Formats: sequence, C-alpha cells, structure tokens
Amino acid sequence: MNSNSNPTPSQIDDVTIMIFGASGDLTGRKLIPALFDLYKNGYLGGNCLIVGVARREKTSDSFRSELKTELGEEIPQSAMDNHWNDFASMLRYVHVDLTNQADYVSLKEQVEEVESERRLPGHRVVYLATSSSLFLPSIQNLSSVGMIPPDANRVRVVIEKPFGHDFDSANKLSQGLSQLLNEDQIYRIDHYLGKETVQNILLFRFGNAIFEPLFNRNHIDHVQITVAESQGIEGGRGKTYDKSGALRDVLQNHALQLLCLVAMEPPSLFEAEHIRDEKLKVLQTLKPGRSGNVDEWAVAGQYAASSIRGEKVKGYVDEDRVAADSQTETFAAMEARIDNWRWAGVPFYLRTGKRMATRVTEIAIQFKLPPLHLFTTVECEGIDCEPANAQSNTLVFRIQPHEAISISFSTKRPGMQYRLQPVEMDFDFKGSFAIDLPAAYERLLLDAMRGDSTLFTRSDELEAAWKFVDPILQQWEQEDHRPELYPAGTWGPKGGNQLLSRNGHYWRAPTPE
Ligand code: BG6
Repeated sequence: MNSNSNPTPSQIDDVTIMIFGASGDLTGRKLIPALFDLYKNGYLGGNCLIVGVARREKTSDSFRSELKTELGEEIPQSAMDNHWNDFASMLRYVHVDLTNQADYVSLKEQVEEVESERRLPGHRVVYLATSSSLFLPSIQNLSSVGMIPPDANRVRVVIEKPFGHDFDSANKLSQGLSQLLNEDQIYRIDHYLGKETVQNILLFRFGNAIFEPLFNRNHIDHVQITVAESQGIEGGRGKTYDKSGALRDVLQNHALQLLCLVAMEPPSLFEAEHIRDEKLKVLQTLKPGRSGNVDEWAVAGQYAASSIRGEKVKGYVDEDRVAADSQTETFAAMEARIDNWRWAGVPFYLRTGKRMATRVTEIAIQFKLPPLHLFTTVECEGIDCEPANAQSNTLVFRIQPHEAISISFSTKRPGMQYRLQPVEMDFDFKGSFAIDLPAAYERLLLDAMRGDSTLFTRSDELEAAWKFVDPILQQWEQEDHRPELYPAGTWGPKGGNQLLSRNGHYWRAPTPE
C-alpha cells in the first residue's frame, strides 16, 4: 500500500478491501461500481481482494451474481464483457454479525486464507458502510482479533457519514476510535470532496492569479451555496432520513465543506494537513448571520404534496417509512458569517433541500456593484429592451449537473446608445476535456488505498462543524418548532427567501444547464 500525499496514478495490486455493510445500498450503487471502474482503468490490479462483510447469509457466488446484475444496469455491456470475470475473481463474501465478537475470529481466518493464496501482505482498507451505531463496535471487534494494528501502512479505516448526530456524539465517537486507531488511520468520507468540480475550487482559486486577489470583503458582496435535489425521499430511506433531516444530512457536511473551500486561506503546501488546517480555521470562525434567536438566521422547511409538471407528488409526511406527524426538515437554509479579516461582514447564504425546483449544486460568488452607475442597464428580448437594475458580476462554480464555471459581466449592447447588457462567459468541463469525470467514490477509494487523506475530513473539522450547527438542531428539535411547508418542486419556503431579502439580496434561481 503506497503512502503518497501527491499521488501519481500508479497501480495498486496488493491491498485487501473489506466492506462492512456489504448488503447495503451504498455498496451496490457506489462502492462496487467505483472499484470496478478503478480496475477497468488500471488503477487497481487484479490481485487485490475485495471482501464484502455483512449480516445477511449469502455465498461469495451469490454476492458476485447480485453485484453483476446491479452493475450491469449501469455499466455498458462491452465493459462488463471485457472486465467483469476478472474483477469478480477478487470478490469474496463473509457473513458476520458485526456485534458478535466470535464471528470476527472466522472473518480473520477466511481473509487470511485468501490473502495467503494470493500472496497479499495483509495491507487492509476497512470501509465502514454500516449504520453509524456499528462503527465503533466493528473496530473494537476487529481489534479484539488483532486486525487493527496501530500502523497506517497496515490498516486504514474509511468511515461513512453520519459521523455522529451532534457535537457530543461525534466527539464521543472520535474518542472511542482514538483508543484503537491513530488519526492517520481514519478516513472520514464526505463524498462531495471527491467530486472533480469540488476539488477544482482550490485549483481554480490558487492556480490562477486573477481571481484570488478579489476573494475578500472589499470586492465580494455575498456568497450563495445551493445544494438542491429534485428527488424526494425514495428507496425506503424514510426511516433513516426522518431521524436526520436536511441540516444533518447535507448542510452540516457537504455545504459547509463547500464553504470552507471557497473561503479558506491558501495552504502553504498542497498537502492534507495544511489544507485541513485552513479549512478548520474557517469552521472555527463561523458565526450566525444575525444575533438573537436561531430563527433569525436559520430556516427549516418541509415539502408538501404538490404537482410537478402535471404529475402529483407526495408530501414528505406521506413518504414511505416517514412518521405521519414528522417535523423533520427537508429544507434548511441559513445566513452565516466568517469572522475573520478576509470575510468580515460578507454574508454566506447556504441552502439545501429535497424536492426542490431542480437538481443543482452550485456556489455563486456575487461581487459588489461598481461605485457609480454611468450607464443604463437593459434587459432585452430580441430587439426590445427594458431598463433593468444594474447587475453585479457573478462567478459561479456549478458542481453538478453539467459541471461548469461561469462569469457574468455587463457589456455594451451594440447600437447607437451607451447601454449595458449582462452576458455570460462559460467554461464547461465535459466540453473542454471530452472525458467522463471520475465518480467521487472512485477518487476517494483510491486515495484511501494510497494513504492520501487530503480529501477526507479530520475529527477537529467535523467537531467544529457540529459545534456551529448544534444550536440550530437544539432549536429545531423543540416540540413546538415546526418546519415551514413549501410545495414540492419549488425553491423552498418563504422564510428561506426572507433570509436574503431583508439584506437586499435574493436567491439565484439556478438552472442546471
Ligand atoms: C448524501 C445524502 O450524503 O448526499 C443524500 O445523505 C443526498 O440525502 C446525497 O441525496 C447527495 O449527493 P449527490 O452526490 O447526489 O449530490
């Protein structure tokens, strides 16, 4: 197993990957497709071992055939024909009750037996894709059979979210894990960091000289971060989601990570610890956008039944496995501030929601207006122009779908008058590079195997993020607190708009194109 903080794409051919929670949705939908792609693209050699570990009884053969069916629905037939059999020869399944210590003895024997057949050195990545209550017991049980040596070159543990459900539980989990694992053995996943366009935020900011000098309170009016999904709660997720809600599910992790990348100082070196130190500083200086009660700066919403493009859709409380009187929020928005020299006074607006008008994740950096309005701005359809408000420049990172970066500016509208018309300059990833962007899990799994933790969150980052959202959770969990309803298929409740309008701002209505 390599340990390299600036990885080059060399092949890894000596690792054992153990996926705990292998009968769950994530394994079939994300992890196995990611490993298959890594294998197909030559990053993973055919001698590795991939062990699915879960409570359900099945054989390695049935595990392989289930995965083949699931993968076959996503992967082109030619890729399956060319690569599946060799890939499948790396797959094994071991049935384990994760809470039963005795089962780990047999797990160890079975893994060691195949490792010895394949002459593998026992360098392992343990991927915890289980329910979060099993994270610590799994590591304790692995440790009790000697499978957790305190050496990051021998074993690394990848931990899915949620890492805790508030500050105290995250802290307790960190403490429990730190009894058995060193920090450099723990890889906490936030899959947003594995997205190509998210990584590009840092490369764009610190690899170009023209934008970074403008990224501060002197030039930027405010920042909007949107993580919007058009889907509701599907695939039987209701029960888990109902215990979590939009704030815990997306805002506390994915959206705050995006904020960190946009706001952090340049690291002195592009290495994991330097980058994470800078992100941590941002999280530690986060403050509510307004003083006073949480309701002044954070808004909870829940989607209500509606019809979208003529089709009836359920309200959240009618979704499968959701309590009929649920007060869980499916929309969360907030105004935050970063209390440091660079960003003092600049509002950062964040929002996320299910069943919103469209699926789009973007960061919009809104610049200040020029100090004088020398020209009339117009909005034109064909040749008919109407006077319009002056438009500020906006730099948009579109994370998904249709990954792109665009800048809007105003230009002279051709004609005999001095009139400004807003236009856009676009860069789109697929158009420019003509390659498929690697999936987030592909990158993150490879990094965990290589020992590069740059794109994983450190415990202090996570705890700082929980500390910031904890007061909101406490307020929203009070019995008399109700999320504001919004019709499914819209941009969320009115309260979300008011967060901005009282500052003279308004949300963009991003289109996915
Ligand atoms: C997950 C959340 O972390 O991110 C889901 O638990 C959400 O509720 C998903 O749908 C969004 O990820 P992506 O990559 O589809 O934007």
